[in-house]
Amino acid sequence: MNRDQLLQHYRQTRRTSTDLCRPLKAEDYRIQSMPDVSPPWWNLGHTTWFFAKNVLEPFTGDSAMDERLEYVLNSYYESLGPRLPRHERGLVTRPSTDEIYAFRRRVDRRMEALIGSVAEDRFERLAFLVVTGVQHEQQHQELLVTELKHILGSNPDGYREPYCRRRHDGRPAATAGTFVPFDGGLVEAGNVEGGWCWDNELPVHRVFLEGFALYDRLVTNGEYLAFVEDGGYRDPLLWLSNGWAAVEAEGWQAPLYWQRVEGRWQAWTLAGTRPLEAAEPVCHVSFYEADAYVRWRAQNDADWAGARLPTEHEWEHAARQAAVDPEAGNFLDDGAFHPQPANGHRGLRQMAGDLWEWTQSHYEPYPGYRPFDGALMEYNGKFMDNQRVLRGGSCATPRSHLRLSYRNFWPAGTRFQLTGLRPARSL
Ligand code: AVJ
Ligand code: FE
Repeated sequence: MNRDQLLQHYRQTRRTSTDLCRPLKAEDYRIQSMPDVSPPWWNLGHTTWFFAKNVLEPFTGDSAMDERLEYVLNSYYESLGPRLPRHERGLVTRPSTDEIYAFRRRVDRRMEALIGSVAEDRFERLAFLVVTGVQHEQQHQELLVTELKHILGSNPDGYREPYCRRRHDGRPAATAGTFVPFDGGLVEAGNVEGGWCWDNELPVHRVFLEGFALYDRLVTNGEYLAFVEDGGYRDPLLWLSNGWAAVEAEGWQAPLYWQRVEGRWQAWTLAGTRPLEAAEPVCHVSFYEADAYVRWRAQNDADWAGARLPTEHEWEHAARQAAVDPEAGNFLDDGAFHPQPANGHRGLRQMAGDLWEWTQSHYEPYPGYRPFDGALMEYNGKFMDNQRVLRGGSCATPRSHLRLSYRNFWPAGTRFQLTGLRPARSL
């Protein structure tokens, strides 16, 4: 990437974040509808803080912010000093949203000047850090969308205003799903394709897989509804112990954002509350719900005998074997902010975009894992504990952000992300 390309890449990403906030009213910027949801002002500030701290400060000696901003916008970096506790981000009215926008403009001016003027021999290091900051901001664009969904969805019924218009109209029928077989053997895993990637996608290494089959599309609302109506949420024998504890503690009876009104199921989407669409992929399920669903279906459908969630290595190998294009799918750029029904094509569908897919794999370092240098060593490695891996990106992921080797991760009880499921089966 040359200077000009880097500058364009930076500018475009920064603009996308503020564009995503354009439909917001002033109040929407400030609340934290639950501890996992950061308010939008914080998201806009923290992504800017990342460039200020990791690029401007080391390269120019000036971070473009005072100690107060450093304190409120540091997310989780122990090595970078004290910070506002995460659950208090929605309890403060300063810095004001205007101050955050002014901070963004200040950092953008300095970043653009730096990209244009840095000495040739330091350009490579600068480019790496800028690309890393861009990738970080793209992750936060996805967080922003899912956080907005939760914030706007927390308003009282009559006040749940849509964030966007509905795209992709029409009511397609669900196409039948089938299991596609893949040979096992010794296969490559990790960033085989090359190019920039997170430290958690390296090193490339080999794993042995038994033969397996992967479902050719995501599980739909219609399929999942049968589980709900069969009492799936009331049968402890279908659930992992921690999953059942969550069902009881949280009162789960259906995926997040589902609502039964006068006998009809509806779902809150960013385009407003809509009747549940049977052909759409089921979304906002936790790992525990995905796991319980597959267990239920394996007991009730002969075609699903032995079904389970895939491992992350099975998912990745299948995607490579099937020549899945990580840029072909329903992404943030498409503006639907909602998963779409599977199309009629043959082969693995919906692997890229639409919804992150829960795998059964615990989030762990690959053999020989080496975290990034410096403060960025805190980026991924310290979270490799008590989380599950998700693959494939979602309708809130920027298209240029995804790779076949991309590893997302969340605790197993997480429901506010755009998460769905696709089963696998041993042959
Ligand atoms: C990979 C989405 C779990 O939200 O903590 C944002 C992304 N890392 N800033 C998260 C991330 C640092 C991360 N997830
Ligand atoms: Fe972050």
